[in-house]
Amino acid sequence: MPRTLASAPIMILNGPNLNLLGQRQPEIYGPDTLADIEALCARTAAAHGGTVDFRQSNHEGELIDWIHEARLHHCGVVINPAAYSHTSVAILDALNACDGLPVVEVHISNVHRRETFRHHSYVSLRADGVIAGCGVQGYAFAVERVAALAGAARADA
Ligand code: DQA
Repeated sequence: MPRTLASAPIMILNGPNLNLLGQRQPEIYGPDTLADIEALCARTAAAHGGTVDFRQSNHEGELIDWIHEARLHHCGVVINPAAYSHTSVAILDALNACDGLPVVEVHISNVHRRETFRHHSYVSLRADGVIAGCGVQGYAFAVERVAALAGAARADA
């Protein structure tokens, strides 16, 4: 069965410390909580007839296991890898194993206006799109993009 937006959820993955959104450095990340972002993503996907599978982990291996799951069961991935963006070849390798699966990377803050170590992302090497500095609205943009890319049947699925 081909996996499309209509037949499979979008996997939305959040990396370490994003469970603290709303409390953690609100001057950088804003007042919204992860629950607020989940609701925003669900509303955005629903407008296109889709659903989301929204998860957060502070553990690299768990994120990798979930990418493997998305490879088989989801129509695309939105990922905010948080600090793992800048360190994790393993997450890049997991995404590289997802042939043809739409992947959009999102960062709440404008990482390019911050410390130099945040300017490079391993995940960007695989991402079909990258959104940074749009606040939590970036998640809605990312869901829109995955919905557009996953709207048609995947030939290899
Ligand atoms: C972040 C940016 C990362 O550099 C940082 O480590 C995060 C959040 C963002 O959403 O702006 O935890 O991914």
